[in-house]
Amino acid sequence: MAPDSPLHPDTGDMPPEEFREWGHIAVDWMADYLARVETLPVLSRVRPGEFRSSLPPRAPEVGESPGDLLRDFEEKVVPALTHWNHPAFLAYFSVTGSGPGILGEMLAATVNVNAMVWRTSPAGTELEAHVLDWLRDLLGLPAGLFGVIQDTASISSMVALAAARHRAWPSAREEGLSGLPRGRIYTSEQAHSSIEKAAIALGFGHKGVRKVETDDAFRMDPERLRAAIREDLEAGIHPLAVVATVGTTSTTSVDPVAEVVEIAREFDLWLHVDAAYGGAAAVLPEMRPHFQGWEEADSIVVNPHKWLFTPVDCSVLYTRHREELRQAFSLTPEYLRTPEMDETHHLMDYGVALGRRFRAIKLWFVLRYFGAEGIRERIREHIRLARRFAEQVDAEAGWERLAPVPFSTVVFRFVPRSEENREADQGADQGADQGADDSEADRVNQAILDRVNASGEAFLSHTRLGGKLALRVAIGHLNTEARHLDRTWDLLREAALES
Ligand SMILES: Cc1ncc(COP(=O)(O)O)c(C=O)c1O
Repeated sequence: MAPDSPLHPDTGDMPPEEFREWGHIAVDWMADYLARVETLPVLSRVRPGEFRSSLPPRAPEVGESPGDLLRDFEEKVVPALTHWNHPAFLAYFSVTGSGPGILGEMLAATVNVNAMVWRTSPAGTELEAHVLDWLRDLLGLPAGLFGVIQDTASISSMVALAAARHRAWPSAREEGLSGLPRGRIYTSEQAHSSIEKAAIALGFGHKGVRKVETDDAFRMDPERLRAAIREDLEAGIHPLAVVATVGTTSTTSVDPVAEVVEIAREFDLWLHVDAAYGGAAAVLPEMRPHFQGWEEADSIVVNPHKWLFTPVDCSVLYTRHREELRQAFSLTPEYLRTPEMDETHHLMDYGVALGRRFRAIKLWFVLRYFGAEGIRERIREHIRLARRFAEQVDAEAGWERLAPVPFSTVVFRFVPRSEENREADQGADQGADQGADDSEADRVNQAILDRVNASGEAFLSHTRLGGKLALRVAIGHLNTEARHLDRTWDLLREAALES
C-alpha cells in the first residue's frame, strides 16, 4: 500500500488526484486478487459473528484515509469471504465476475446514472435495449421479444407473473384480488423456490402454486400438467400461468417446453420459461434442441450473472407482451413526467423499482470483449468438463450419478457398502432397515461434503433427490480447468475412504 494521503477537506468529495492515486492502488489490488484467488480457501473459515466482532462499534467521527479502508478490506473482509471468483468454486451455480464485467461495474459506479426515465440517462435506456437485442439474437430467440434487465431471476419471474396476472384479471390492478377466484400457477416439483415466492408476493399465496410431478429425469410430466389444470378448472380454480424450467436448480433438468407450450395455449395460459442458468447454453447451436419451444413462450428469464460471465447482479427478462408488462406496472406521478413520455420507453415502467443501476454496461463489455465465438467456446468447454467429470463418476465403483448432465452440472453421491448391498437385495426384501440405510448414506455423503469443503481447495453444495442427499459439482467459472476437477475428484474419493 502507498503511504496514507492527507485527510479530506471538510466538504466535498475525495479530490480527483487522491481518487486517481487510490484508484490505481485499488485496481492493482483487484488484478493481484484475481491472479492469486486460487491460493485462498474457497469457503470462508470464519464462524458466525466473528467478522462483525472485528469491526468498531461506531462509525468514525473523523474521516479515515483510503489506506486504512483498503487495509481493513484486505485484512478483515477478505478472510470472511467465500470466493465465488475461485476456479474451484463448484457450488450452487458457479459464476464468473470476469475482467470486462468488473471494468463495466467500475464505470457504472463512476457515472452513477439512474435510468428510471429516458432523459435521466438516454444511454442507460438505449444501451440496455440494444445489448438485450444482441443477446436475444445470440440465444436464437425471435426478434419480437422485448428485453429488460432486473436484478435477479426471482424478480424477473415475479414481474413476468405479474404481467400474467394483469392479462387474466386487468381489474386486479385497481381492485386487488378480493372477490376473485383462487388463481393458480403450475410449475414442476423441481422448479426454483422463486416461483413460490413470486406467488406469495403477488397475492396468490403459496397454495397458488401447484407443483406438477416430474419423470425419472426430473422433467415436468406434461400429461400430469394437463390433468392438474383440468382438475383445478372443475374445482372452480382459475389457472393463470405455467412456468417451465430449462436447467432446474437441483439437477439442471429440462422440462419438455414444446409440449408445455401446447398445453399453455390449449388453456390460454401465460407460459414463462425459467432459463436463469440454462439459458446461456442456447448460444450453442448444438444445445438448441434443449430449448425447443421456448421461442413460443410469453416470457423468458436468462441470468447473465449466472453463466454469462457478468458480475452479479444482472438478470434479463424477455417478453413478447411488452405492453401488458407495462400496463401491469406503469404509474407516473407528475414529478416523473418528461417531454419524451410518449416518444420512447422508460425503464421504470417494467417492474416495481424506480431507480436502477446501469447494469447494461457490464453485459455490453462482456459480449464485446469475448465476442460471440469466445462465449460459445467457453460454454462449450464447461459442458465438456462436466461430461468428463460425469464419466469419472460413472467409471468409479462405489459412486453413482443421480441425474443426466445436459449442461455443466453433475449430481452424484457415494454409495456406502451397506447401501450397495441393500440396493442389490432390493425387491427380495424392501426391509425395515431401508430408512436406516438411507440415513447412513446421507450421513456419509454429508461427511464427504464437509471434508472437501473444509479442505479449502474446492467448494461443493448439495441437494436432495428422491429423499437422497446428493452432491453437486457445477462448472461456470472461466478459470476452471480439468486440473481443478481432478483435484476435487481426488478429494472426494479420499473423503469417502475416511467417512
Ligand atoms: C432455475 C433458477 N431460477 C431462478 C433462480 C434464482 O436466481 P436469482 O438469484 O437471480 O434470483 C435460480 C438460482 O439459482 C435458479 O437456479
